[in-house]
Amino acid sequence: MRNILKINVLGCLFLLMMLPVQAKSVSLSTTEKVQLEKEKKMNRFLDDLLKKMTLEEKIGQMSQALLDWSPDKNPLDPGSDGGKDLRLGRVGSIFNVAGVDVSYKLQKIAVEETRLHIPLIFGFDVIHGLKTVFPLPLAEAASWDLSAIERSARIAAVEASAMGIHWVFSPMVDIARDARWGRIAEGAGEDPYLGALIAKARVRGYQGDDLSKNNTVVACAKHFAAYGAGIAGRDYNAVDLSERQLREVYLLPFKAAVEAGAGTLMASFNTVNGIPASANSFLLRKILKEEWGFDGFVVSDFESVKELVAHGYAENEKDAARLAANAGLDMEMKSNTYRNELLKQVEAGLVSEKVINEAVRRILTIKYRLGLFEDPYRYCDANREKTELLTPEHIRAARDMARKSIVLLKNENNTLPLKKDIGKLAVIGALADSHDMLGCWGGLGDQKDVVPILQGIKAAVSPNTEILYSHGCELESKTPEDFTEALNVARQADQIIMVMGESAGMTGESQSRIRIDIPGNQEALLKEVMKLGKPVVVLLTNGRPLSIPWEAEHVPAIVETWFLGIQTGNAIADVLFGDCNPSGKLPVSFPYNIGQVPLYYSELSTGRPKAEKPDDPFRSRYADATNDAVYPFGYGLSYTTFEYSNLRTDQPVLPMKGSIKISVDVKNTGNCSGEEVVQLYIRDLSASVCRPVKELKGFQKLFFESGETKTVQFVLTPENLNYYDANMKWRVEPGTFTVFVGGNSRDVLKTNFQLN
Ligand code: BGC
Repeated sequence: MRNILKINVLGCLFLLMMLPVQAKSVSLSTTEKVQLEKEKKMNRFLDDLLKKMTLEEKIGQMSQALLDWSPDKNPLDPGSDGGKDLRLGRVGSIFNVAGVDVSYKLQKIAVEETRLHIPLIFGFDVIHGLKTVFPLPLAEAASWDLSAIERSARIAAVEASAMGIHWVFSPMVDIARDARWGRIAEGAGEDPYLGALIAKARVRGYQGDDLSKNNTVVACAKHFAAYGAGIAGRDYNAVDLSERQLREVYLLPFKAAVEAGAGTLMASFNTVNGIPASANSFLLRKILKEEWGFDGFVVSDFESVKELVAHGYAENEKDAARLAANAGLDMEMKSNTYRNELLKQVEAGLVSEKVINEAVRRILTIKYRLGLFEDPYRYCDANREKTELLTPEHIRAARDMARKSIVLLKNENNTLPLKKDIGKLAVIGALADSHDMLGCWGGLGDQKDVVPILQGIKAAVSPNTEILYSHGCELESKTPEDFTEALNVARQADQIIMVMGESAGMTGESQSRIRIDIPGNQEALLKEVMKLGKPVVVLLTNGRPLSIPWEAEHVPAIVETWFLGIQTGNAIADVLFGDCNPSGKLPVSFPYNIGQVPLYYSELSTGRPKAEKPDDPFRSRYADATNDAVYPFGYGLSYTTFEYSNLRTDQPVLPMKGSIKISVDVKNTGNCSGEEVVQLYIRDLSASVCRPVKELKGFQKLFFESGETKTVQFVLTPENLNYYDANMKWRVEPGTFTVFVGGNSRDVLKTNFQLN
């Protein structure tokens, strides 16, 4: 918003200057005037400050340190190396510092003991909550509930700012279509449209409407760019993709984050078409800063400037500093190539002072907008730290978000919800009684605050229900295990709940895997349990799509529970026993088999689409498996059922300068109320470049009473249908479009309209 406003204000000013004298009466609104005055005041302040800064101090602002707190290196000690750097103004930002006490002490050094008193900016990996840990970002995306996602980020910002943090390295907005990649857990899944809306919601949540408030923090959209497209799903791996794919798929959520005013971006580790993202002027300068008008700053990823050498892009660290700075990388995280080499590069005329000044101005701009020049201790409020962490309100919101993130994958014969009074209930699985449910990047979450699944179930059932628990088997054992205890427990039970999947540490950074089926002996145990012929529910825990074809075929009820944060057990029990009707929908496709990945619904067609002639072997297909997902993007069941009918458009033609209304009747045909995510997809049937078989273009999450019918309406304009044409122009061409509406990307109604 801030950004858009600024562009508008500057745009207006430019227009004013260009207009003939008599037309100069065009006036700015009061808000625009106020904004303009603020910008002018800030620019005067920054001009002044920049004039006073030495080159070394400027490069200091471009350096982010990870402090060494070992006893002989304590940075608070003026004699330590870190302490000296701080006092000489050789550090602009610090990361991984949290807590009012320590942030106050460090800020005091910067403000009182450096020559120009420039405050530090403290960054931290707050990815899905700080103390009140919410579900994994991928799980939150499954809610398709933008206001709940925004609220989750808002609460994270409140807690982060209460602990002295100004800047969160979040949202992670990388599109991920390869389930092997461990970091798929940190983003919003496979789809750029959904990803862009979630990126905006998270930025709004973190930054609020005014960055200078003491409970808002600056967001960092990461990892710019295309980090999720690493070859073969391996972390940090090279990315090679067309500019069209880059822009239409991978950049869209970043663009959305910038439009929402994200103050910073983080460059990614990977190369993009041969050039490392951290020194990629096409990405950083041309697209981000010039085309999108981004006026915040870009930070590298952890040592990614130094890594330019290992990439084979820079000969040495000196070279790396020069290449990154010239490409528009404003701040270096952790490694010291800027601090050690940049000055010499400027003196040698290899990096211009203009480049340095621009980077520093961007960094100081964000510090200014955070209000740090006005009050550097704004975020050092010990009272807030005491009263605003893990509050009952935050915990309630975490439970609510966790409930919304759960996806019901299968529910044959209404196996779920379970009765609370159920006789003997067996809960089996190593993760059932585990506190390790925060998932990767758990912030400062404490496992003792986690409600394990077993605890949640115990709290929910009636006093008559007896809970029997067995650890079952190890998660990842490679040797056969003894199932006797688990089977004994199962034998006694009236109902069995199997908790299965991956552990929290199996997704996240550097956790790429070549197998995505349920690890170890868990499935073998499940098969033995199923032989007993008792009713079984499987709860999946995981941060990536798992391939579960056997479970999908044989187990009557399957619930996707991801890693749901501190309220895991309570939220799962809410769904299991029907206090909450699940409404989550997958933000990512679940393949049958690892051999299908990358798998995503919005693929291009081929000249030989399988669907046209399913029995013809000379079609685009696998000889030994289906092409389809077991559970497609957008999929998720409810305890009620929804019927879609009567899909129609208000006119056969969408005029180039008009809009078209698409309506569908959705009826809750089941016995209870529930929420449904009504999804709209389109296909451009022929164009100067081939278009995907389906693209999400709208959705509405709506509540229905039992028996209720709603007419759900979407409006599309030609702009919603834009893409990069054969000449890389962002536009839409006239022609026939199919519009699909349904409760997931596979089961849809469809109709056509013309665009001309
Ligand atoms: C990750 C980033 C993270 C940074 C700082 C890197 O390894 O890729 O996502 O923000 O470390 O912890």
